[in-house]
Amino acid sequence: MSCKSPLILGIESSCDETAAAVITGDRQILSHRLAGQEREHAPYGGVVPEIAARAHVEAVMPLVEAALADAKLTLADLDAIAATAGPGLIGGVMVGLVTAKALAHAANKPLIAVNHLEGHALSPRLTDPDLEFPYLLLLVSGGHCQLLSVDGVGRYRRLATTIDDAAGEAFDKTAKLLGLGFPGGPAVERAAAEGEPKAVPLPRPLFGSPEPHFSFAGLKSAVLRARDAGTHRPQDIAASFQAAVVDCLIDRTRRAIERAPEATALVVAGGVAANTAIRAALAALAGDNGLRFVAPPLWLCTDNAAMIGWAGAERFALGLTDGLDVAARPRWPLDPAAETVRGAGVKA
Ligand code: KG4
Ligand code: ZN
Repeated sequence: MSCKSPLILGIESSCDETAAAVITGDRQILSHRLAGQEREHAPYGGVVPEIAARAHVEAVMPLVEAALADAKLTLADLDAIAATAGPGLIGGVMVGLVTAKALAHAANKPLIAVNHLEGHALSPRLTDPDLEFPYLLLLVSGGHCQLLSVDGVGRYRRLATTIDDAAGEAFDKTAKLLGLGFPGGPAVERAAAEGEPKAVPLPRPLFGSPEPHFSFAGLKSAVLRARDAGTHRPQDIAASFQAAVVDCLIDRTRRAIERAPEATALVVAGGVAANTAIRAALAALAGDNGLRFVAPPLWLCTDNAAMIGWAGAERFALGLTDGLDVAARPRWPLDPAAETVRGAGVKA
């Protein structure tokens, strides 16, 4: 047995990014490659599943080859192959998972089926070796908005979820309503920087409610009304929208902190964690509550394969590998015991 740190190939294809990365069990990122599909989906203002699946098919093997070449490795050098097995757009998930299965079979390497959300949840530990369990995680992406107590690898307790839209979805829909372009999050953030956050009075759904759940559908409707009123600049609506999201995230997270007294850190992950205003507000909240604040670097917040490789490395270290018959899963909650929340849509 060699005592060198394991080498893990990660593959991601659950939404509109195809990605491959090679990381080590001791937190070195040897390579990470990514191909977005913004151009393909831009005419539709959102991700079209069929177009996404086709684009993943074309991109995945060249990216795997490039990631291996960047790391100066071949398949034979790897210790395991990890791929997102869900949740996500099923056509895309299947492309990445089937590719990983074929490579694992051909090179006789163990396969690790990674939950995409676990990839986000553990990603802060890739760049922060001091981040120990348990920590309170705000997971905010295009499809998810949850507060979780991360008690260990594979051990997640959901404290809150959204009862309607995810935070990233609210950013994307607001961008579409305001004609700011796709993908919406960064576009809204850019417009907000030119606007006045107090210009448009917008609601803060569920603010102050006892359970730490989220809701963003009413905010989106209010953005639509503000736009149709025709009296506000898009930049002012964007800034006011972003301020409302920040207020909601902070209020709900504050409530969850009360319910996770054992947490040592407040951690944010997922695509929306790339937002500077949200990161700054969360850092202040953590400070007020004597918690360390940890956020992955921006590139590691949005979908990527390094986080999938890292979740694979964490599972590999515990001997958690999967058979080649493992299925792709369109839905796959991190906390299977969590109850469906009244009013929750498919995102719960
Ligand atoms: O984690 P991610 O890359 O994909 C999913 O798993 O959903 O998250 C993408 C989401 C999108 O909704 C995007 O608009 C949002 O993250 N996002 C942002 C920012 N960058 C990406 N939202 C707000 N501000 C940003 N800077
Ligand atoms: Zn994601």
